[in-house]
Amino acid sequence: MSQVHLIDHPMVQHKLTIMRDKSTPSNIFRQLLYEISLLMGYEITRDFPMEDVVVETPLETATLKKIAGKKVAIVPILRAGLGMVDGLRDLIPVARVGFIGLYRDEETHKPVPYYCKLPKGVDKRLVILTDPMLATGGSACDAIDLVKQKGCQDIRLMCLVAAPEGIKMVQEKHPDVDIYVASIDRQLNENCYILPGLGDAGDRIFGTE
Ligand code: PRP
Ligand code: URA
Repeated sequence: MSQVHLIDHPMVQHKLTIMRDKSTPSNIFRQLLYEISLLMGYEITRDFPMEDVVVETPLETATLKKIAGKKVAIVPILRAGLGMVDGLRDLIPVARVGFIGLYRDEETHKPVPYYCKLPKGVDKRLVILTDPMLATGGSACDAIDLVKQKGCQDIRLMCLVAAPEGIKMVQEKHPDVDIYVASIDRQLNENCYILPGLGDAGDRIFGTE
């Protein structure tokens, strides 16, 4: 069974509360999503392996720690997942970036694929899939299926807000994929929107309401 890592740090929770407020404008919403992604990045990279390196400081020779060559691919689920890329990329500047385009059909609420571009050698990298919203879980599960079809075996899912229904679906279909999330909200409404949620993340990021 995959683990759910709830990032309940006060700074993350404070910023998320401002994002949820319907009066928060698109530019602030985007900025806060960037900041939260960077902060969540600390947790998602917490278990990265380290190695000893010898460094000449201005005062002496010291044996110190560096990350031992962990290769990462950040893969946003378009559109809203794009809002989480820059924060992660500022934390892991050598990460490659891929893209998976999926939109949720308004009637069926099922994901419809429209684009997939992944970096060369993605199967040898840790894939961090990003999407602020994990609602029914359909989009995340299809995105995980896609990267698994390309041979990826080391996959993590980073979301901002999740519904219990979405977490359950990912855990059942992909028990090998850990989920990192800033909030587990109460439930879905009749249109499969998360409650209390924050509305349509893509529209709020890109001002397309
Ligand atoms: C939203 C969101 C997720 C998906 C979550 O995307 O960003 O990708 O819905 O819902 P699910 O868990 O029920 O699949 P949307 O389809 O609105 O596309 P957008 O990001 O382009 O706005
Ligand atoms: N997609 C969103 O953007 N928000 C939700 O609450 C559910 C799906």
